Amino acid sequence: MTEPVLMKFKSKMEKVAIKSTIKSTASSTNYKNEIYDSDGYYGEYGGVFIPEVLRNNMDELTHTFNACKSDPAFLAELDLAFKEFSGRPTALTPLSKLSDELGGAQLYLKREGLNHTGAHKINHCIGQVLLAKRMGKTRIIAETGAGQHGYATASVCARYGLECIIYMGKIDYERQRPNVYWMELLGAKVIPVTEGSQTLNDAVIAAFKDLIAHPKESHYLLGSAVGPHPFPLINTFFQKVVGEEIKSQITEQIGGLPDQCIACVGGGSNAMGMFYEFLDDESVTLTGVEAGGKSSKGGEHAAKVSFGKKGIFEGYYSYFLQDNDGNINDTHSVSAGLDYCGVSPILAHLYDKDRVGFSYATDDQALNAVQVLAQKEGIILALESAHALAHAMKIAPEYSKDHCIVVNGSGRGEKDLFITMRHFQKDKMMAFLKSQLES
Ligand SMILES: Cc1ncc(COP(=O)(O)O)c(C=O)c1O
Repeated sequence: MTEPVLMKFKSKMEKVAIKSTIKSTASSTNYKNEIYDSDGYYGEYGGVFIPEVLRNNMDELTHTFNACKSDPAFLAELDLAFKEFSGRPTALTPLSKLSDELGGAQLYLKREGLNHTGAHKINHCIGQVLLAKRMGKTRIIAETGAGQHGYATASVCARYGLECIIYMGKIDYERQRPNVYWMELLGAKVIPVTEGSQTLNDAVIAAFKDLIAHPKESHYLLGSAVGPHPFPLINTFFQKVVGEEIKSQITEQIGGLPDQCIACVGGGSNAMGMFYEFLDDESVTLTGVEAGGKSSKGGEHAAKVSFGKKGIFEGYYSYFLQDNDGNINDTHSVSAGLDYCGVSPILAHLYDKDRVGFSYATDDQALNAVQVLAQKEGIILALESAHALAHAMKIAPEYSKDHCIVVNGSGRGEKDLFITMRHFQKDKMMAFLKSQLES
């Protein structure tokens, strides 16, 4: 087993954060209202670039969401499901030992991994299933990368009695086998997608094709703050409970607001969930951390704001990873949940406005952060969230002890067993698998 490399990590980490805004200076724009009232555009980003046959579905969803978002009965049902089914509120845990060891800012971890099914994804699954029920839908289609969104979708569908079909790129299907097993146990049909790079992009395309084939009875439960309007807005709305809880918990714990909030960014749902409540608090720096993968070479990372170009894909205008001809590039990340080629149009807009800064962490830095947190604080973090923690560990020593950084622990790490064990204890894992096969 490798040793945790806390000190080595500190000194070896490159200090330069690509495209990172260390101190965001929000203007007096009221970002919260701007997003809440959006008709689908965030600055130049967003939109609804979809085949005409899907227009009715998007209009129906927009209409239902607009009616529900301020309906007290809907909001009460949502709150109750958050509490009774998912176990909200989730804890905000001070990382005292780790902070002392790093010798700078005080780190806090929002424990979204304590949600039912192990990640923040359940927040927008509950919300969208309640919307689907209002629309009279009987069939839920979803795509998933890490499996967390699919696992959460399958659980919520089982609870509310809806048929559930989950598309998954074949590579993700294989590397997230435990989550596939849970989805099937929960009664969902999981379909591996063998087209393209066999990861999340291909699963999204397969899910849209399914919706085109079954538009009347189906709701496409899109799994991040991406896609055509109204999905980025809807998922931000259902995730904003994360930042709301952080604000009241940190105020209780330290008597004020944090200085920084840091979240990993795949499509952007946990980041928007954390950031939304703080958008108009100018003193709070907001940073998204993308997957730096193996290197900055095309195909070896999934850092779209850091290295992508603007374009239209999967129904919306944002930053995407593209080759020189404008084709979507392959992506790579050790964490399946960050392995996606696009980013929320809301985050793209907030980046352009200098309200949200971006950086990235590599596969190795994320794996190291998982091990350090496990051994210093007794918490096993999802590889996705470990990207955010790796960035926090990098910058914490640059600040004084009265500086407070909250990291969004978007998920727990048990789902990553086969990836982290192969990294930390490869021989023992092989011996275990062999003995299981033999028995
Ligand atoms: C635990 C966890 N965190 C983060 C993500 C990334 O998604 P998003 O950027 O939408 O939060 C995923 C995606 O599956 C995930 O499972």
